[in-house]
Amino acid sequence: MSAYPRVASFKSHQQFTDHLKELGADFPSDAEVESGADSPLGQSLDVDGVTVGNRFCILPMEGWDGTTDGKPTDLTRRRWRNFGISGAKWMWGGEAVSVRHDGRANPNQLLMTESNLSSIEGLRHELENAHQERFGRTDDLYVGLQLTHSGRWAKPNEKTKSEPRTVQRNPALDPRGNVTDDSAIMSDDDLRRLIDDFIAAAVRAERAGFKFVDVKHCHGYLGHELLSGVDRDGDFGGSFENRTRFVREIVAGINAEAPSLKIGVRLSIYDFMPHHPGEDRIGEPVPGADPRLVWGADPSGMGIDLDEPSKFLTLLESIGVKMVCTTAGSPYSTPHIQRPAYFPPSDGYLPPEDPLVGVARQLRATADLKRSHPGMTFVGSGYTYLQDWLPGVAQAVVRAGWVDSIGLGRMVLSYPELPADVIAGVKQQRKKVCRTFSECTTAPRNGMISGCFPLDPFYKAMPEREMVKAIK
Ligand SMILES: Cc1cc2nc3c(=O)[nH]c(=O)nc-3n(C[C@H](O)[C@H](O)[C@H](O)COP(=O)(O)O)c2cc1C
Ligand code: SF4
Repeated sequence: MSAYPRVASFKSHQQFTDHLKELGADFPSDAEVESGADSPLGQSLDVDGVTVGNRFCILPMEGWDGTTDGKPTDLTRRRWRNFGISGAKWMWGGEAVSVRHDGRANPNQLLMTESNLSSIEGLRHELENAHQERFGRTDDLYVGLQLTHSGRWAKPNEKTKSEPRTVQRNPALDPRGNVTDDSAIMSDDDLRRLIDDFIAAAVRAERAGFKFVDVKHCHGYLGHELLSGVDRDGDFGGSFENRTRFVREIVAGINAEAPSLKIGVRLSIYDFMPHHPGEDRIGEPVPGADPRLVWGADPSGMGIDLDEPSKFLTLLESIGVKMVCTTAGSPYSTPHIQRPAYFPPSDGYLPPEDPLVGVARQLRATADLKRSHPGMTFVGSGYTYLQDWLPGVAQAVVRAGWVDSIGLGRMVLSYPELPADVIAGVKQQRKKVCRTFSECTTAPRNGMISGCFPLDPFYKAMPEREMVKAIK
């Protein structure tokens, strides 16, 4: 059990903000949340010429529930319908969709092949139809698709078999992803073929009616790891120019082959050294981890240095990428900074800090980058741990210009209609608020589908619910 006060124990906004003050968590929070189309969260947003109807965005979340050939199932369709009824007007990618088979993070991850195009298009229809039925319009809805290659975390064929394709050796991570020798390192030629695969998948996404693609650069997957490839030789490693060649060539290729498709990047804007459970299962850095391989970290590997991430955003802006979704760390090696939680997943560790510190870190770093890149549109992440206070903090940070749109992850699994309720001024339904039990992460880490087993009645009724409880 964690040593920090639970968010649900704060009985008033004053108690919550007093606690933030004690922690030194310096983000603003409003006691009253406004409703309606002109409210800070209800107002529309211009994203590089596209009107997006409000300030809520659904973050990509997969469910480990596609078919083995990479098509959606009824479970996938249900999740996307829930995204549609949420009331959020921006869909940052739906979920991670692999551009080729060896890049799948699990054998049930969606795959953007020619033969899967129409069923992935069907997912988009599902979401848009649900939104249309509930809200009467979709002209102000902005739906993209997240494209990925899972790199060192790939498990394309069996749930328990890592088949890593990585950028460079990393002694602190290699044992976790079954990297035992250099054969897991992708050659420059393989990376060039992968660039073509990203471009081909983006063209298919456009044909499937998606308005933008996210060229994923976060959470320890391949794009993100390339940014830290300081030990790699050749065209894709070493210098900043080489480490960013991958994204530059993908963007150039998409612009050439699908000129009207917009491009965004989901980016881990900082990371810390890989963690593991230490004494009393509390997370601590893996001894001997190399801070040079941690992108966006200071020389200690335990603090933020936004110099390169900021330079990376400047580069993106110069090649026409105007929207970024900020996140941090990796769900495998630094989950406490990536998705702050009170209860860790089964393969995690107890939080080494009050999870609100993790939230504050993401909010502040995003605000710093937003300030230095005012011409870009920013979607933030990591708000779910705020729980009952999420709407008040969301309103305050949008109003203060820290971020343009509030990305919602876990909260929308337990409480899909939260954005609609906030904008309509409906009282928050407390029993649906995500309390960060992490069962949506524990289940897939143990070979099961993901879903909100504790709070979503649909998943609560499944046999997996008991299995997840037993593992806990
Ligand atoms: C079950 C689950 C699946 C996820 N899948 C993805 C994914 O496919 N792509 C991605 O970029 N992030 C993924 N994430 C991370 C979320 O998008 C988000 O960054 C994270 O949950 C923190 O936001 P939150 O505090 O609102 O939950 C996933 C998170 C969860 C809990
Ligand atoms: S299982 Fe449900 S309550 Fe637990 S973290 Fe996931 S969404 Fe939140």
